[in-house]
Amino acid sequence: MNEDALRDEIVRFGALLYARGLAHGSAGNLSVRLDDGSILVTPTNSSLGFLAPERISKVDAGGRHLGGDPPSKEAFFHLAVYEERPAARAVVHLHSTNAVAVSCLCHADTSNVLPPLTAYHVMRVGKLPLVPYFRPGDRQLAEAVRGFARSHKAMLLANHGPIVAGKTLAEAVHAYEELEETAKLFFLIGERRAAPLTCEAIEDLERHFPS
Ligand code: 13P
Repeated sequence: MNEDALRDEIVRFGALLYARGLAHGSAGNLSVRLDDGSILVTPTNSSLGFLAPERISKVDAGGRHLGGDPPSKEAFFHLAVYEERPAARAVVHLHSTNAVAVSCLCHADTSNVLPPLTAYHVMRVGKLPLVPYFRPGDRQLAEAVRGFARSHKAMLLANHGPIVAGKTLAEAVHAYEELEETAKLFFLIGERRAAPLTCEAIEDLERHFPS
């Protein structure tokens, strides 16, 4: 896909996520990586529902602003994910309600903060570690994200929201939606005794659908 088509795709997915209530206000940011290693990323303080293709920011691999409106203050954690995951071509970060609620809970085990309730959660999201809290835009947040990115396609920022990487923007969005749905199921089940997938079932999925 050429750069213009990718700009259009960011606009389309931004509008879809906003229409579905997964993005609100000016929260969240999306990016895609171009062949030369630079990224297209949504501008800071922009609403994902009302993006304009020509205003989407372009940033080089070192974080320098090359064009468009000023980039998301989170561009640095997008770049950290791309550095650690060479196959990733898109990153989605939103503040969707159920996932953010999970990010605000106390977790005894922060290595995986959502149970493997369904096959699609295991296939699309996998283990979801909790990244310690840092202020949005803090470079320390980008470094904390880097520490998890190589071995996880999705992670949850404490008191903030998820980051999900994919080989395409569609793949990253689909995985994000799966994560939000699992968070919704988690609260729907509540105190009732859940029966998550067994280790054998998870290994079987990983064999049949390697990521
Ligand atoms: P930006 O508007 O700078 O992208 O920040 C939004 C956000 O979601 C911060 O976490």
